[in-house]
Amino acid sequence: MRKLQVVLLPHLSVSQAYKLHPCWNMQGTRLPEYVKIVEVGPRDGLQNEKQIVPTSVKVDLINRLSETGLSVIEATSFVSPKWVPQMGDHTDVMRDIRRHPGVNYPVLTPNLKGFQSAIAVGAKEVAIFGAASESFSKKNINCTIEESLRRFDEVMKAAKVANIPVRAYVSCVLGCPYEGKIQPEAVAEVAKKMYSMGCYEISLGDTIGVGTPGGMQAMLEAVTREVPVSALAVHCHDTYGQALANILTALQMGVSVVDSSVAGLGGCPYAKGASGNVATEDVVYMLHGLGIRTGVDLAKLTSVGSFISAALGRRTSSKVAQAMSKL
Ligand code: HMG
Ligand code: MG
Repeated sequence: MRKLQVVLLPHLSVSQAYKLHPCWNMQGTRLPEYVKIVEVGPRDGLQNEKQIVPTSVKVDLINRLSETGLSVIEATSFVSPKWVPQMGDHTDVMRDIRRHPGVNYPVLTPNLKGFQSAIAVGAKEVAIFGAASESFSKKNINCTIEESLRRFDEVMKAAKVANIPVRAYVSCVLGCPYEGKIQPEAVAEVAKKMYSMGCYEISLGDTIGVGTPGGMQAMLEAVTREVPVSALAVHCHDTYGQALANILTALQMGVSVVDSSVAGLGGCPYAKGASGNVATEDVVYMLHGLGIRTGVDLAKLTSVGSFISAALGRRTSSKVAQAMSKL
């Protein structure tokens, strides 16, 4: 059985011990000292909202997130407004946000058209998004996996010329809303192809939040045979409440980039039943508790969570924010 192994000196409290032990050493596995958080709230968090969120609220959200110490804030997506009307104001969002030095504002681009529109408004980084499931690929981006890779190749070529770094998503890594279980080898195959195309980071998406730690471990074992762990991120939706456990498993296996969404907003319009991403507040709380640096100010972050929850007229999904609001 896995056990948290921490040597606590008898005269120290747990909080003092945190300071002495910068990272918990779990069963001989060293956890990363720093984790990069990719905040996907303004994109993944809002894309599934039924009511159109005013552009000014999106811009305000991104500006407030920029003050929290986050280094990556995925701002919007340059997809077809017929497919995802909520992201139809991508150009205005990119034009109106205040870009902080040291913060990246990547955007999703499914094809060359999206890429060209994105760089025309000053995007400095983009993300392409594929899937390990054929059915999900067809429902989400209207093409097979093979066709999607051809489209991505066009984006990669244009990005190389424009010197734009490209991140990649692989969706449905722990299950698909249409096909059910997805084999780890299928995930590894797509991840390998996207990495070989030149994507600097591959974010592995549990799109419908069905995974458990055993599945995460098996999937990462397969993927790390093809892609260096330093180039991997995990992107966990929290439908079944497994996201933090899955993230911890990934950290134990050497992953040091985690996607999350403030207030636990989110979902994919083409993945029925998918709930929000894991809340950034909850991830930050867990990481800081483990002695892992993130650069994020939790108090500032929870106040941004309160802002967007109030703007959407709903309660935050972050357990940490709920607990802190009672203090
Ligand atoms: P399509 O209909 O096959 O595209 O859609 P098309 O090339 O045949 O073009 C049809 C029309 O769309 C044309 O316009 C194009 O100009 C336009 P029309 O002539 O009919 O007026 N079009 C575009 N417009 C704006 N921006 C573009 C663009 N491309 C074509 N980039 C397409 C293919 C990929 C565009 C469509 O399927 C689409 O936009 N899909 C996006 C779906 C989406 O955004 N899903 C959510 C994001 S993925 C996600 O959430 C998962 C993730 O979080 C990870 C995880 O959780 O697993 C990343
Ligand atoms: Mg997602």
